[in-house]
Amino acid sequence: MKRIAIFASGTGSNALKIIEHFKAHSSIEVALVVSNKDTAGVLEIAKAHQIPTLLLEKNIFRKSTQLLNDFKVYQIDFIALAGFLWLIPAYLVKAFPNKIVNIHPALLPRYGGKGMYGHYVHEAVFAAKEQQSGMTIHYVNEQYDEGNIIFQASCTLTPNDNPTIIAQKVLQLEHKHYAKVIENLLITPKK
Ligand code: GAR
Repeated sequence: MKRIAIFASGTGSNALKIIEHFKAHSSIEVALVVSNKDTAGVLEIAKAHQIPTLLLEKNIFRKSTQLLNDFKVYQIDFIALAGFLWLIPAYLVKAFPNKIVNIHPALLPRYGGKGMYGHYVHEAVFAAKEQQSGMTIHYVNEQYDEGNIIFQASCTLTPNDNPTIIAQKVLQLEHKHYAKVIENLLITPKK
């Protein structure tokens, strides 16, 4: 079994899609949900699916490598960020080379970087009167939203689409693709 840890800071609708996708999978399972916020909806989702959870404390996460020990215990092979807002520290990137992916609610390299998350992204896309937006799945490195792109999907925007509508269109794409892209990465043998 390949064992995934999902990192999320908020509602967790992408986490839920991933959990559901791998519920009865023959070779991949969601083994752990990690959050930095004790009120995050994703923790309730994890509990409802009997998935263990881990709450991060900022300084320990950034400065110690204790998490690597936890991941050994849970036998984590792969990490999927799903609305996780903290930067991933270098020790974790090094320990999981090309095994950490993130989903971003825009067509990177545009509308990425520190502070560009959730509704801030959709407001910026709206303000720029973009005719399309979309989502990006990419590998994670030590910078926000800068790792190599794995997959993108786009949606057309009309002048009537406010940031809320843009968010809905993008979230629909995320729900459609993220779990499948993770599955492909985990079942396709590396050359
Ligand atoms: C998603 O749209 C995800 O792309 C975004 O947060 C949302 C989380 O929604 N991530 C970022 O903005 C990261 N820069 P969810 O909690 O319902 O899955």
